[in-house]
Amino acid sequence: MKMRFISLLMLVCVSVSPLFADSALLAANPAAESVLSAYSTREFSEEPLKAGQLDLILQAGANAPSAQNRQPWTFIVVENSEIRSRLFKSLPEACAVVVVSVPVEDYCGGGNSQFAAGTAAESMYLMAQGLGLGAHMYTFPAKIINETPEIKTGLKIGDDSEAAVVLAFGNTDEADTVSGASGRNNIDDFVVIID
Ligand SMILES: Cc1cc2nc3c(=O)[nH]c(=O)nc-3n(C[C@H](O)[C@H](O)[C@H](O)COP(=O)(O)O)c2cc1C
Repeated sequence: MKMRFISLLMLVCVSVSPLFADSALLAANPAAESVLSAYSTREFSEEPLKAGQLDLILQAGANAPSAQNRQPWTFIVVENSEIRSRLFKSLPEACAVVVVSVPVEDYCGGGNSQFAAGTAAESMYLMAQGLGLGAHMYTFPAKIINETPEIKTGLKIGDDSEAAVVLAFGNTDEADTVSGASGRNNIDDFVVIID
């Protein structure tokens, strides 16, 4: 993890604009490692989460920002193996699975509920990575939930709500073929400065 962060730091320093290239700023920021090195774990191991880790992840989601601080989400921890097998082809039992559901009807303009599901999901994702765990967020199983009434009912999601995103958390398997984030576009290519 440490080596990966140092390489990442070097990569960031040489490849991004001078505004973001301050390695001292990065090193002094305790969140930097998990934010900049986060990636989607492809293979989880059978090693269970440690006590308290899932609670911290859920707390991170609860602390996420939402429009008018409405916190429109519900976090559903899915332990039921039958439902899990309908959402994922293969996912170790040791993984925690969390569905973020939000009301279908929006508030205060469009998109706020879905947007809040995103902020909560990202906060949980980053907390998991900061704890040294692997994490992955998926919308495909959310679609399965919303299109399958018995799964939706089984997860206690009412007609007024829908699954927005599903997250898996766990320890990364040694056989995981991916050990870092895929390439990202350079910020110079999409940051627009209006002066
Ligand atoms: C909104 C959203 C939906 C996603 N849905 C899926 C999904 O349904 N299945 C999947 O395997 N990965 C899904 N992902 C993971 C992305 O494929 C992954 O974040 C992206 O490829 C970058 O991977 P990396 O961070 O490991 O480089 C989703 C990610 C986001 C943010």
